Amino acid sequence: MKNSIQEEFIATVSHELRTPLTSIRGFSQTLLSSWDKINDEDKKKFIKIIEEQSQRLINLVENILSVSKSNAEIQVLKKVDVNSSIKKIFPLFIEQYKNHIFKLNLQNNLPPARLDEDKFQQVMTNLIDNAAKYSEEGKTVEIITKIQNNNILIQVKDSGVGIRKEDFDKIFKKFSRLENHLTSRTQGNGLGLYITKEIVEKMSGKISFTSEIGKGTVFEVVFPFYNEEEVLKCSHQS
Ligand SMILES: Nc1ncnc2c1ncn2[C@@H]1O[C@H](COP(=O)(O)OP(=O)(O)OP(=O)(O)O)[C@@H](O)[C@H]1O
Ligand SMILES: [Mg+2]
Repeated sequence: MKNSIQEEFIATVSHELRTPLTSIRGFSQTLLSSWDKINDEDKKKFIKIIEEQSQRLINLVENILSVSKSNAEIQVLKKVDVNSSIKKIFPLFIEQYKNHIFKLNLQNNLPPARLDEDKFQQVMTNLIDNAAKYSEEGKTVEIITKIQNNNILIQVKDSGVGIRKEDFDKIFKKFSRLENHLTSRTQGNGLGLYITKEIVEKMSGKISFTSEIGKGTVFEVVFPFYNEEEVLKCSHQS
């Protein structure tokens, strides 16, 4: 990394780390010092905040590590059932964005994909997090899986603020956050999509999006089937 970029990186990252850490520390201190004075419901509320902020830190650290390794390291690609992998991370978002509506529309009997499951979940986490973060409360975020041209297609659809045409080429750049009223109200450092694209392409996938300002955005990720070539060869031979 060049010096000025490195400084910018450190400044953004320290700010991003400080916010959840301050909140975790504050709520832990309150719980410790006033345990007997706080009712059970409030205790639960405070612990929930600590839990949510820790999750935020984990996602942030994952993204930072991916960038500082300069490119995301991919482990051995294995057979992954995309649907069950999505179902494992899905409850986190329902918890975190309580006032959004989340829908899963997953195709049955989807063939397995060739993926590093942790990295795939990092991709999905970044896309679902953006879909919720850049749409108002009460809006729907839908995750769709289906087969398309011998590939597995995953869509993350929101009806949020949308992206301006002139910003389309900025979206996957490192540290780029676009200007809209939700970007200024939400936390982020413009790393999510940069890393997401790197990871997707390393796993032989493709990422694209369509968006209309004020209407919403659809991110699409495509991955080949596990053993696609063998499957095709077999079907030709038989
Ligand atoms: N679904 C979406 N709808 C509208 N704008 C989006 C959407 N996804 C991303 N953006 C815009 O693209 C920018 C870059 O997204 P990216 O995920 O890389 O960074 P971030 O969400 O700002 O921060 P981070 O993901 O690192 O926490 C966002 O700041 C936002 O302005
Ligand atoms: Mg993001």
